Amino acid sequence: MRFRLSAGLSLAVMLALPAAAKAEDGYDLWLRYRPLEAAAGPYQTHATGIAGGDTPTLKAAESELQRGLKAMLGKDVALNGPAGDGALILGTPSDSQVIKALSLPLSGLGDEGFVIRTLTLGGHPVTVIAANSDTGVLYGAFRYLSLIQTRRSVDNLDIRDAPKLKVRVLDHWDNLDGSVERGYAGNSIWDWWRLPTLVDPRYIDYARADASVGINGAVLNNVNAKAASLTAPYIAKAKAVADVLRPYGIKVYLSARFSAPIELGGLKTADPLDSQVRAWWKAKADEIYAEIPDFGGFLVKANSEGQPGPGDYHRSHAEGANMLAEALKPHGGIVMWRAFIYSEHDADDRAKQAYNELQPLDGQFADNVLVQIKNGAIDFQPREPFHPLFGAMPKTNEMLEVELTKEYLGQATHLVYSTALYEETLKADTFAQGRGATVARVLESRALTGMAGVANIGADRDWTGSDFNQADWYGFGRLAWNPEASSRDIADDWTRMTFSNDPAFVKPVVTMMMASRETVVKYMTPLGLHHQMATGHHYGPGPWVSELARPEWNPMYYSKADAGGIGFDRTKTGSNALGQYAPQAAELWADPKTIDPKYLLWFHHVPWTFKMKDGRTLWDDMVITYSTGVDEVGGMRKTWASLAPFVDPERFEAVSANLIIQEREAKWWRDASIAWFQAKNGLPLPQGYAAPEMPLDYYRSLQFPYAPGRGQ
Ligand code: GCU
Repeated sequence: MRFRLSAGLSLAVMLALPAAAKAEDGYDLWLRYRPLEAAAGPYQTHATGIAGGDTPTLKAAESELQRGLKAMLGKDVALNGPAGDGALILGTPSDSQVIKALSLPLSGLGDEGFVIRTLTLGGHPVTVIAANSDTGVLYGAFRYLSLIQTRRSVDNLDIRDAPKLKVRVLDHWDNLDGSVERGYAGNSIWDWWRLPTLVDPRYIDYARADASVGINGAVLNNVNAKAASLTAPYIAKAKAVADVLRPYGIKVYLSARFSAPIELGGLKTADPLDSQVRAWWKAKADEIYAEIPDFGGFLVKANSEGQPGPGDYHRSHAEGANMLAEALKPHGGIVMWRAFIYSEHDADDRAKQAYNELQPLDGQFADNVLVQIKNGAIDFQPREPFHPLFGAMPKTNEMLEVELTKEYLGQATHLVYSTALYEETLKADTFAQGRGATVARVLESRALTGMAGVANIGADRDWTGSDFNQADWYGFGRLAWNPEASSRDIADDWTRMTFSNDPAFVKPVVTMMMASRETVVKYMTPLGLHHQMATGHHYGPGPWVSELARPEWNPMYYSKADAGGIGFDRTKTGSNALGQYAPQAAELWADPKTIDPKYLLWFHHVPWTFKMKDGRTLWDDMVITYSTGVDEVGGMRKTWASLAPFVDPERFEAVSANLIIQEREAKWWRDASIAWFQAKNGLPLPQGYAAPEMPLDYYRSLQFPYAPGRGQ
């Protein structure tokens, strides 16, 4: 969706622009390959020709190189010409005698790593992109292009890289009717209705974008799955998508509905220990693999939010997962079993339920099962401490799930660089095997490793509902490849590839992106508050909500705000969720006086007059933090406005319009939250801070029946 600004502003923007800045609609993502500026560096002596092979994947690598080099360097790069000066030589030792003879250090790089090296061949300076598999070569080709895109030297290359995690997968919460649960970028890109006959060429561009950052899997359908996606017609549709994605190293997975043997197979039960049920899943797996020989496997949401699961038959999550794992195992498939589990029958703190259910099962999951754990124990909030399951199941393959789509972070219109949030989780120390056992290291240490991102992709022209949301698709891929990478470096690369290499643009934009995650925390849920969003669509503030059927759906359940104080006591005197963390981690959070204030109200219920480390009262700090968040969005608007000369008018306007919405909504969040909490505590605002613009009743009366992202 694109927004139009007022004609006056548009004109001002147009006048400020250099003639060369052509309008762009964001479709090209970070693979824009615009012509290099004259002073860009000595690239012309490189990439004079490409020698590769003719498998579908090598062809994809070659055509990407040709496309990128032609667009950036303005020259046609011949395929399979003579290996003269500046040639690019691609391949694997098994298919290319030239590569084999070079004896490059490919061992230890696995199936997906690569080497890029400048060397002399037959007296000619050449660049070699080599790997153990064609997919590794493709990843190397994208890396080579990115060096030019970000204006790094390609003169003396000696790069050796491989992904640290094996399964790097996007979870599309896409429904069979074309809607996307928590999607804010239009309908699903998977045109289920017209597949398999119509295969949208856009799938190739999707695959290119994924492969460029090493994403190697796509779960095509929503975790709240319909059994129909496992029927023959839908398997045929999934096969058509798989055929397009395969050359790009991407496997297709499906979300499996646990009760499918009943719904599709006519069985009376879906009990995982029932022999007929097991036989049904085995036959279903065989049927899928007959169509999609490299099918990745199943993603399962079970016994959570009304979904069926093994618990319906008094079986454990391990018994449920292992049944599916057994059916997939002969074909090399895996099960991603979600840890997002909480139940209407469990009165315990929601933050504790997944750990209670799964931790005792450590060691019981089959070796082709990954337990897929959200970054925090509640649900993709602007800030949560890391999930206590990380590191707590040493004999289980644990994978991280993050949410690219901004369900709880302002949805598509707020400029929030969530990759910084993913990094915060990955760098958090679980203290599981002593100091330094960060979530990243925990993930890397397992026999089977992985990271999943809930996709923010839809059929909008810009794919993600805003140009800046593209950064999280890119950033997710980069972090899944290397969970120890820096989100700042990633933002820097993305900015250069997506907009401009001009330092006068890159620096302020990266600074703005890096601060943006903290900003949203400030104006929505400061100091450890969480789940204060309105009901259902989660759009906007609803801190007063307390009457929903299930207690843990209510914002008041999480804030516990009353006349005396605010916050959820998760220490020993409360739910003791703190006890689920390793002692050294728990110790850091046990005392409200010493805890990092960003987690204060997550773990502690404190009086409004609680003295903060900065000497102010909690209430004063809350008001100041909300207000600072709003001011910071104002600052982002100013920064962006000053950058008009560097950006084409269409993308400049789209971002500007979103920032207008964000500033308005940040103020709404501030005012509504302050109005509600002040009604509880009756305290004055700190001096110099304005009262909410409207009375509390106004904010409470707002309804948004058509807010996007509900899906079906
Ligand atoms: C969130 C989200 C749901 C989704 C669920 C999940 O609760 O609001 O739409 O189904 O997460 O992760 O399964």
